[in-house]
Amino acid sequence: MDDKATQLTTASGIPVADNQNSLSAGRTGPLLLQDAHLIEKLQHFNRERIPERVVHAKGSGAFGIFTVTHDISAYTKAGLFGAVGKQTPTFARFSTVGGERGSADTERDPRGFAVRFYTDEGNWDLVGNNTPMFFIKDPIKFPDFVHTQKRDPQTNLKSPRMMWDFWSRAPESLHQVTMLFSDRGTPDGYRHMDGFGGHTFSLISARGERVWVKWHLKTQQGVKNLSAAEAVRLAGADPDYAQRDLFAAIARGEFPRWNVSVQVMREEERLAWETRTNWSAFDLTKVWPHADFPRLPVGQLELNRNPDNYHGDVEQVAFSPANVVPGLGLSPDKMLQGRLFAYHDAQLYRVGTNHQQLPVNRPRCPVHHQQRDGAMAFANGGASTNYAAVNAQGTSPRGFGHGDPGWTLDGVAGRYDSRATDDDVTQAGNLYRILSASQQGNLVHNIAGAMAGVSTEIRERQLAHFARADGAYGAGVRAALAKARK
Ligand code: HEM
Repeated sequence: MDDKATQLTTASGIPVADNQNSLSAGRTGPLLLQDAHLIEKLQHFNRERIPERVVHAKGSGAFGIFTVTHDISAYTKAGLFGAVGKQTPTFARFSTVGGERGSADTERDPRGFAVRFYTDEGNWDLVGNNTPMFFIKDPIKFPDFVHTQKRDPQTNLKSPRMMWDFWSRAPESLHQVTMLFSDRGTPDGYRHMDGFGGHTFSLISARGERVWVKWHLKTQQGVKNLSAAEAVRLAGADPDYAQRDLFAAIARGEFPRWNVSVQVMREEERLAWETRTNWSAFDLTKVWPHADFPRLPVGQLELNRNPDNYHGDVEQVAFSPANVVPGLGLSPDKMLQGRLFAYHDAQLYRVGTNHQQLPVNRPRCPVHHQQRDGAMAFANGGASTNYAAVNAQGTSPRGFGHGDPGWTLDGVAGRYDSRATDDDVTQAGNLYRILSASQQGNLVHNIAGAMAGVSTEIRERQLAHFARADGAYGAGVRAALAKARK
């Protein structure tokens, strides 16, 4: 007789008599439907997979701790930044973007860098990437852009034609394309890359004042990238390279750490900077130069515990940029606004109606609301009321609530084509110009390799963008393409 603690049971707790031999009618079969254990085992197996994330499907995650090292309470009243030394538990997930769940970790692609802070006032999710900018500035283009990174509908192959067709018609992508084809497009695992919140967010002080901010996470391990050739080799030799590296480092007690910092822009500085540069502070294809807005140190993120169960935590974690806690705020950035809708909606489908009740998603503070029922409602509010009472006298907060002041709006509602007005080349050129000669060489070589097979029409359209960013950039790609085609 097995020990009670190790006795195999069905999911209903009933001891299983035999897990090796099905119940059969005679020695050769057929099988009997009354073998409830066999039926349950096969049924559950058939339902093991949940849909993979529509983007960022391949990823790795770990638990950790965020520690405040510098006081930013003049800018924010958020409790998690309340005192130097204050610690907040976290969960981080890193990912590639375009590939499927089984795709190679070393593909040239941005890397997702999502961090959840389980604060005393709810979950704050900073759902960023390893690059500070993005390909597009309007969410209406996101599904089209992502389709070009996925597979051709007929051949089911990745398609350089689709990618360059899209990028060459969306010149706002030039800055991020330059980053993607630089050495930073193939990071050496997840520990050796920086993270960026990307969007402009805000901080709200106890006095109810808002400043605009951008979040940065700088790796203490140092930035390390793979050469293009090594990335390709590893994609075959060890497709799970980044997962293995992160898990093994944490398992041997080598905890990866990042310095968290923030760039701050006051409203009057924004107006002056936008006038001077002709860039918008809310344009995700742009960065804020550090010379204008230096990074202020805030804290340290350390990842120090591997999840016991990959599916339970890494696959089921559901981050959302809409998860911001009092003292932190959003911005009018159109991309951010689109994302505020997209994530929870995706997770209602991918994980389920009550995904916020799962251990990795459950806040570590009390939760009170009147959402009830739905599939898998295991924390369903007990006997507490399932409706909110309406106060006889209204007590509406001002602004957005939580002392978060409203925004002054500007302009006429309508559809605005940014290509008519925006400078989408200068920052791409700046990025090209700060690269060393050898990094510029890698960049144009990587682009030429990726563009080699595309039509002349697409190539010429894209070459014109590179040339507008910097004449040498355009000429370099053209020369590398000529060499690649010989
Ligand atoms: C309008 C543009 C965007 C849309 C509509 C969008 C939508 C999505 C969706 C639906 C998911 C899957 C969520 C899930 O199933 O859990 C996702 C994942 C993700 N997105 Fe975006 N996204 C956008 C732009 C961005 C940008 C600009 C960044 C970085 C700054 C970003 C970073 C991420 C990350 C890191 C994940 C994976 C989160 C995880 O590890 O679970 N996305 N996105």
